[in-house]
Amino acid sequence: MTPTALNKELLVKIEKGLQSLDLPEFPTTLYEPYTYAISVGGKRIRPLLTMLSAGMCGGDPDDALPAALAVEILHNFTLVHDDIMDSADTRRGKPSVFKKWNENVAILSGDLMFADGIQKLNWYGTNDSYSKEEFAAIYEVYLQSVVTVCEGQAMDMEFVDRPEITLEDYIEMISGKTAALLSSSLELGGITAHASTDERARLDQLGKEMGIAFQIQDDLLDAIANPEKFGKRPGGDIFEGKKTYLTILALERANSDQKEVILNTLNSKKTDEASVNKVLELMNELKVIEDVSEIVRKTYQNANDLIAQFNESKYRKELENLLIFLQNRDH
Ligand code: IPE
Ligand code: IPE
Ligand code: MG
Ligand code: MG
Ligand code: MG
Repeated sequence: MTPTALNKELLVKIEKGLQSLDLPEFPTTLYEPYTYAISVGGKRIRPLLTMLSAGMCGGDPDDALPAALAVEILHNFTLVHDDIMDSADTRRGKPSVFKKWNENVAILSGDLMFADGIQKLNWYGTNDSYSKEEFAAIYEVYLQSVVTVCEGQAMDMEFVDRPEITLEDYIEMISGKTAALLSSSLELGGITAHASTDERARLDQLGKEMGIAFQIQDDLLDAIANPEKFGKRPGGDIFEGKKTYLTILALERANSDQKEVILNTLNSKKTDEASVNKVLELMNELKVIEDVSEIVRKTYQNANDLIAQFNESKYRKELENLLIFLQNRDH
């Protein structure tokens, strides 16, 4: 990302916060994977959203930093466990935690990250500028988003064995696994800025729209991105038989022969590269890639329209810039 001056300033604070977690050294198989997961990169979208949203609601983004760190730690925890669930060997161009160590290590260090993320929120309970209600709301929004992410992840896995998944089912699934955390990132920023109920509802909706665009785009990148830049295995979703916007739309448009090719590949336990490439060719032929790119563009546009409902400020401008960056991302 080539961030603007303000986003750069916020990113520096986020990185500094993530590097000063003050973790013990032992047991190494617990703490090393945590440090590794947090420090091998990542775009830091969610903590940026938290800080920008605080600014956009008239608060000081610095007051949103503990919540921003909490959401980024939570996000990294979900990735550590997600890679086990998706048998994904690489993350951000490096071995995933379960691959570098093993599954048990990844499960336990993930659990630790989950708990540590929550602890960052305690700062709001010891700060006099926050009411009891606001402190409770911070916990509620954060933890409810974890519940919703888990529901989405469960649907993601259940869908692998269900042939009849519709686009509507898919949107429900990604609203959970991805959008919920973008919504809570934004809403938490709002609460730290004492936002009104109405503003909080708008932030929640903005996160939902952004999250849907972001995940459909992730599915698209999974199929067509340059693997060096994307940092994950190309065609990984097809290898794993995932129901994505691309596979569902391709199945809807395919004739019976094409459908058989796609379903055989998705359902096969030992998918090879040639079959994945065949499915990708079919997706192009059926104009799936083209149309999904357009859906991503439109959904980001919806998000942009929601941002426009907030008062003009330098933070709102930065959020708009972040959206443009996301739209053009290659990883
Ligand atoms: C990856 O999220 C998980 C999805 C919801 C698709 P990001 O693409 O934000 O991951 P990092 O943190 O930048 O690596
Ligand atoms: C991301 O879904 C959802 C969560 C991590 C909660 P994916 O499984 O598509 O994410 P990537 O592609 O592995 O980053
Ligand atoms: Mg997954
Ligand atoms: Mg995954
Ligand atoms: Mg993905």
